[in-house]
Amino acid sequence: MEQNGLKVAVVGATGAVGNLMIKVLEERNFPVSRLKLLASARSVGKTLPFRGVEVPVEELVEDSFKDVQLALFSAGGSTSKKFAPVAARAGTVVIDNSNAWRMDKEVPLVVPEVNPEAALTHSGIIANPNCSTIQMVVALKPIYDAAGIRRIVVTTFQAVSGTGKRAIEELKNQVRDIMNGREAVREIYPRQIAFNCFPQIGPFLDNGFSEEEMKMVNETRKIFSDSRIRVCATTVRIPVFYGHSESINIETEKPVSPEQVRRLLEDAPGVKVVDDLSKGSYPVALDAAGRDETLVGRIRIDPSVENGLAMWVVADNIRKGAATNAVQIAEFLLKSKRL
Ligand code: A2P
Repeated sequence: MEQNGLKVAVVGATGAVGNLMIKVLEERNFPVSRLKLLASARSVGKTLPFRGVEVPVEELVEDSFKDVQLALFSAGGSTSKKFAPVAARAGTVVIDNSNAWRMDKEVPLVVPEVNPEAALTHSGIIANPNCSTIQMVVALKPIYDAAGIRRIVVTTFQAVSGTGKRAIEELKNQVRDIMNGREAVREIYPRQIAFNCFPQIGPFLDNGFSEEEMKMVNETRKIFSDSRIRVCATTVRIPVFYGHSESINIETEKPVSPEQVRRLLEDAPGVKVVDDLSKGSYPVALDAAGRDETLVGRIRIDPSVENGLAMWVVADNIRKGAATNAVQIAEFLLKSKRL
């Protein structure tokens, strides 16, 4: 660990995203002088590796944040609701991956490629958007700036890792059980996930949309600071472990051609265009898994509306959709001398 680095805590260190946060801090050489790993009492006794050293997991308690400068939270909404303010009061900057604070007016919702400066307005807590929103706004930002966006219609195809480690196990177990002629056991998801897909992510709301769908609507508006963008989302869970795919149709203010969009995206930070149909090339979840870029392909005119475009956007939901985005926010704060 570096002497001049920061004292960093990862809350939910034993979870799918928390674990990756540790790895991403290591990969990106984030300056860490001491790493504190926090989880529930169930995980006390476990250790997790960081830069070749086994770090013990401690129980998250009220005074876990003494002298901690940065805490990356990914331990679920109720834990964040309770402990993020505790950490902020102790002087820790919290970057929270849960849904708890995203729509709070005092809390910036940040994607570094889109609205990094919002991070500087924080009063202790910064929210990481929903995974499906992050990859969509990363791909749409250059188009938004060049041509304006009036309307977005998006359908997602979401991997199980977004639900956490128990959901990853549920898909594995169901596949194994079904292939062995046994009945699939369902604990996490509302329907069987193996060999299936279902249009329900989170509970349904009174307006007929699911919670995940409304996250995409509200978070997109907040990140672009544009309450006029109309968004209609359908979010679907599919039996893939890592990588969310999205079919996105947009209506721009000004006309923009697929060739222009390809050029804009080729120059955009965090985006990789994978779009050469003559070679059969378009992005898929298996290619995105383990990478930090948002991959965009199948860029084409949507002839059903004026100024319509359609595209296919894929990213690793627990990297760019969660852990990497959180660490990038911390890097931006550090670069801005706000950490
Ligand atoms: P634990 O492993 O001790 O249960 P995932 O999203 O992959 O399911 O992971 C959730 C993460 O949040 C895990 O690290 C889990 O720790 C942690 N967690 C869940 N509930 C609490 C809690 N009440 N206090 C602290 N950490 C929690």
